[in-house]
Amino acid sequence: MITFQGVSKYYEYHTVLRNITLTVPKGEMVFLTGPSGAGKSTFLKLMYLAETPDEGDITIDTLPLTSLKPSQVPLLRRKIGVVFQDFKLINNLTVFDNVALALRVRKAAEREVRNLVSEALKKVHLRHLADSYPRSLSGGEQQRVAIARAIVAEPLVLLADEPTGNLDPNTALDILRVFRDINLQGTTILIATHNRELLRGTDKRVLKLDGGGLSEEGGA
Ligand SMILES: Nc1ncnc2c1ncn2[C@@H]1O[C@H](COP(=O)(O)OP(=O)(O)O)[C@@H](O)[C@H]1O
Ligand SMILES: [Mg+2]
Repeated sequence: MITFQGVSKYYEYHTVLRNITLTVPKGEMVFLTGPSGAGKSTFLKLMYLAETPDEGDITIDTLPLTSLKPSQVPLLRRKIGVVFQDFKLINNLTVFDNVALALRVRKAAEREVRNLVSEALKKVHLRHLADSYPRSLSGGEQQRVAIARAIVAEPLVLLADEPTGNLDPNTALDILRVFRDINLQGTTILIATHNRELLRGTDKRVLKLDGGGLSEEGGA
């Protein structure tokens, strides 16, 4: 599903990622950890095309990112949903309209928009807040809206960059449960976090970035 083959990334003279090789099978949920500045965000950016590797190859669901034709870029973007630490919701749109935005940009039929948005809100347990505005929601609720927005078009891969960074510990665990439920329905998930607390007792694979290299910790 996701493969990294000998991937390196440099900024100026600084090596952020060094010769990384990794396979994440379809349907797996993995954590990417490591101290601040270790390259976790860069690693995810390579997958959602915000950065390009200096060496090596990345494929997502057979699409080769490093030799993607411009016409394949929308296809790749449709396979990937991304969630950030700061939610990035649009405050003057309702919850429903925030989640619907990507579908409307793609000119999906309004009936399909309604069905997919309802499905996505159901998965994050927020159907009752569809008509609310982001500012009236708690941090955990706002992150669940952001997750609904990321999964509304049913991507194969969900990427999350410090998704619990702005949340208290209990809310963070709630959000992890939401990711788990989504993963159980088949979505491959990569979660970058520097928060070791979140990984305690996990049965998921834990990958650690440090000094540019990637190592595997296994279930903690
Ligand atoms: N656009 C950039 N230009 C130069 N250096 C960058 C850029 N983005 C990140 N870096 C550097 O790359 C390293 C890894 O950053 P990042 O991927 O954000 O790490 P993490 O997410 O693990 O905290 C850091 O030293 C950071 O300062
Ligand atoms: Mg980061």
